[in-house]
Amino acid sequence: MDATPPPTLPLIRIDRVEGTTLLRIDRPEKRNALDAATRSQLLSAIDWAVATPQVRVIVVTGVGEKAFIAGADVSEFATRTVLEQRTTMEGRRIFDAVATAPKPVIAMINGYCLGGGLELALAADVRIAATEATLGQPEINLAIIPGGGGTQRLPRLIGLGAAMRMVLTGSAIDSAEALGLGLVDDVVPRADLERRTLEVAAAMAKHSPIALRLAKEALRASLELPLQQGLALERELFCLAFSSEDGREGVQAFLAKRPPSFGGR
Ligand code: COA
Repeated sequence: MDATPPPTLPLIRIDRVEGTTLLRIDRPEKRNALDAATRSQLLSAIDWAVATPQVRVIVVTGVGEKAFIAGADVSEFATRTVLEQRTTMEGRRIFDAVATAPKPVIAMINGYCLGGGLELALAADVRIAATEATLGQPEINLAIIPGGGGTQRLPRLIGLGAAMRMVLTGSAIDSAEALGLGLVDDVVPRADLERRTLEVAAAMAKHSPIALRLAKEALRASLELPLQQGLALERELFCLAFSSEDGREGVQAFLAKRPPSFGGR
């Protein structure tokens, strides 16, 4: 039994498949554009997934065939003052919630993945796209720039030149090109997208949640720390994993030639 059932959120459909939960943004008539209500409900859904021990891996995706997320809801930009916009951007954000979640987060990119949608995918740990998906940072077309991490996470992932081209042209690319750039990790036909994503999620979810959390933390730190500090952090986190009950169990199970049973302690 879950400690708490999934919250009821009109704009986020929450599904469970064993140790994986799928958080589906449910605004297909607006191409799953991120308005304030969607962002707030996505934060609530992520908080629930993080707080629920039975959830080992989180998948974020969009409802419908057309869009993963078509970016920020542009209609809100038209009515907000600068101060309101700044307050929104200084508050707790979905991008950071995904990047710092102590569980793996997979972006399942089922269609248009634009602007804040691409930035959310960039904040995730793994990106799996449908062949039919389109990815881009189109903000420059509106005479604005990415504001959800795109100018920082995109070049770290695909290099400065390719990021410059995407951000300065505002032109979208298809998933084959995205795969070549390393912007996505896997591309499959839309009909196979959920199956493939759940396979990858299950291959993670079977492991100790402590080891998953520490591995994610160490890998993410590699983007920010000088090598020696990163290696020192890795040693510390290795020892934490080593001293956990799960760490003991993993080693014992291997030596006893039996499957491990991880309690997450
Ligand atoms: N913000 C607000 N509304 C959006 C939106 C966004 N980012 N993206 C799509 N919508 C709305 C459209 O306004 C339209 O609403 P309406 O039916 O009330 O007129 C509805 O979603 C469907 O969009 P439409 O353009 O008709 O769908 P499409 O399938 O032909 O095209 C896109 C899809 C994603 C290519 C196109 O909608 C688009 O370019 N969106 C904007 C993307 C963008 O610039 N994002 C970054 C913002 S910073």
